[in-house]
Amino acid sequence: MIDRMIRVFDRGLRTVAGIHPATDDVPDAPTSDLSGAEKRRAGSLMRVNHTGEVCAQALYEGQALTARDVKVRSAMQQAAKEEVVHLVWCRKRLQELDTHPSVLDPIFFATSCALGALAGALGDRVSLGFIAATEDQVVEHLDRHIDQLPQGDGRSRAILERMREDELRHGTSAEKAGGLPFPMPLRRLMTSFSRIMTETTYRI
Ligand SMILES: [Fe+2]
Ligand SMILES: [Fe+2]
Repeated sequence: MIDRMIRVFDRGLRTVAGIHPATDDVPDAPTSDLSGAEKRRAGSLMRVNHTGEVCAQALYEGQALTARDVKVRSAMQQAAKEEVVHLVWCRKRLQELDTHPSVLDPIFFATSCALGALAGALGDRVSLGFIAATEDQVVEHLDRHIDQLPQGDGRSRAILERMREDELRHGTSAEKAGGLPFPMPLRRLMTSFSRIMTETTYRI
């Protein structure tokens, strides 16, 4: 358990400080010159998505911390690795759009990690159900952001579309692995959490 806690702490520091393996494999598509206002809007949307990936990272790490079955734990750690790739793509795009990650990222990492650990402690099937419900909401959220991006920002759109494919797969595999359906009141609570996240990190 101590080893796993050190791992989570290490992940948290790396996530917040942006220390990750470099990748050239960033999804791309033709992008036109963006006006100042368009660049700011795209930057704010991508900041929200970057924090979303910080949360995803922390949720999976928290869940892996308390998972009971070894296979479930390694599946969570594998998914967390894939979320790192998304994190790197979003961070790179933030730099290209001349903006910064959210100052609230450490708080969202800590909160999400605690939520993930709690879900894991309630049992593997609850934890898998939590992933399925979360990814479901992430896909809906990404659809909205894909629509809201400036028309000419093909590169950000390509990143979000690739992320959407992966999130859909994460959700489906969690459901297939035995995730329990999540009751509506819990889903509403999750929606409120993500609303707080999206509205605050859009600005700071
Ligand atoms: Fe992701
Ligand atoms: Fe995901």
